[in-house]
Amino acid sequence: EVAPMDERYEDSFKIGAAVEPYQLEGIHGDILKHHYNSLVAENVMKPEAIQPVEGEFNWEEADKIAAFANENDMELRFHTLIWHSQTPAWFFEDEEGNPMVEETDPERQEANKELLLERLDSHIKAVMERYKDDVDAWDVVNEAIADEASNEEGLRESEWYQVTGTDYIKEAFEAARKYGGEDAKLFINDYNTEIEPKRDHLYNLVEEMVDEGVPIDGVGHQSHIQLDWPSIEESRESFEMFAGLGLENQVTELDVSLYGYPPEPAYPTYEEIPDSLFETQAERYDQLFALYEEQDADLSSVTFWGIADDHTWLNDRAEEFNDGIGKDAPFAFDTEYNVKPAYWSMMDDEVPT
Ligand code: G3I
Repeated sequence: EVAPMDERYEDSFKIGAAVEPYQLEGIHGDILKHHYNSLVAENVMKPEAIQPVEGEFNWEEADKIAAFANENDMELRFHTLIWHSQTPAWFFEDEEGNPMVEETDPERQEANKELLLERLDSHIKAVMERYKDDVDAWDVVNEAIADEASNEEGLRESEWYQVTGTDYIKEAFEAARKYGGEDAKLFINDYNTEIEPKRDHLYNLVEEMVDEGVPIDGVGHQSHIQLDWPSIEESRESFEMFAGLGLENQVTELDVSLYGYPPEPAYPTYEEIPDSLFETQAERYDQLFALYEEQDADLSSVTFWGIADDHTWLNDRAEEFNDGIGKDAPFAFDTEYNVKPAYWSMMDDEVPT
């Protein structure tokens, strides 16, 4: 049995994995217990999973993940309180069931805004009251920044934004502090946090929140990255910028895709992926983890968006772009749960021959 990844990094940060409930058992569960000391739900703690119908909460699957983390003395990240995606439509419908974003009457727009912010508050209240004692870090708002800015602040023009402006972001953090208590660690989470101008739009928002006294403790860098993008230098700069605001950084959804974007052409089967790519990926992981260990990065946790190459959203993405064909291989474990060159480089070991 190979050495645990979490022990290798225990002086620096936690090592986490995103999971579906089925992965708490069998081989996946064994790997989790051996190599990881932090967990996050890949899907079952999202708004559509927790509150599919207004006022009807569905805790069963989420509870399984919280219980596993507790039983195995692992940290738990909560993903995610507020997001534009995987959020049921009822959130954004007025009393008559019409989409709030279509309202043109200013008075009714105001009433809709109030209703939506009430829903935000009651969702956050219900979730935090249940998991307050289990959760170590909360993704309070996920993906608030646009990829291509269409407004001055660079904010994503989601239904949340269209109905409430930036208020939903601030109110979400206020509510999270109110219901989660002083010790709750509150994160804003996003992808491409290394890339300008998105990085700067996120920075400006967070700086404004800090200046205004909106409770925020950290920035989650999803880190859905590629073999050569973004550069280590860009990642370092981003960590240092946010640390400079007095905030904690966490890597929250790490995977190193073998492809660029869009992911095409794609390898039709896992077996067809050339070994040389696994070597390149190992070098990439080596450099990344060296960066993560740097003091100035101020990282408290590094979470992979999955466990092994048998289960990754990147396969769905590759298939989507290539008529149902395409396998990716982002992690340290292969589809049969053997360690890959990426594992050995993260452990600073030679690949055994
Ligand atoms: O729940 C339905 C199920 O009822 C149905 O039978 C099945 C058929 O396809 O679909 C299930 O929904 C899937 C859902 O995951 C829950 O498993 C969706 O199709 C699928 O598209 C969805 O994908 C998730 C994606 O978020 C959705 O936005 C991925 O698993 C998940 O890895 C991904 O995670 C996101 C993070 O939350 C935020 N950052 C980016 C990251 C990667 O996209």
